[in-house]
Amino acid sequence: MIYLTRRETFAAAHRLFKDGLDDKENFELFGKCSNPNWHGHNYILEVMVSGTPDPATGFVIDLKKLKEIIQEHVISKVDHKNLNLDTDFMQGVIPTSENIVVAIWNQLKDNIPSGNLYSVKLYETENNYFEYRGE
Ligand code: NI
Repeated sequence: MIYLTRRETFAAAHRLFKDGLDDKENFELFGKCSNPNWHGHNYILEVMVSGTPDPATGFVIDLKKLKEIIQEHVISKVDHKNLNLDTDFMQGVIPTSENIVVAIWNQLKDNIPSGNLYSVKLYETENNYFEYRGE
């Protein structure tokens, strides 16, 4: 079994808040990420696909194709966007990294043409990353 990873980066704005809480209560719950006037992160995304190489090509998945799939279904919807306002697959969800990584998994899971989507990792800062493997 081979595990291959494509790494992408994107910059996005967000705000963590719950309707019904005031700014002070949101700050107590979410800290600086609740700043009412938004803020950004430079996210790093790692998409890992597992599988055995196709004898005809030697590939588990064509990395050029994987790059295009991630671009179409994820990066084009998040890069230089506001995750709360602009990103269709984040509507109605508090854009924590936990929720973003699950949403990205769901964007990709039915669009991987060969091999199996194994994990999605999202780095929000250099000290924190969040990984989802579909369960
Ligand atoms: Ni934040």
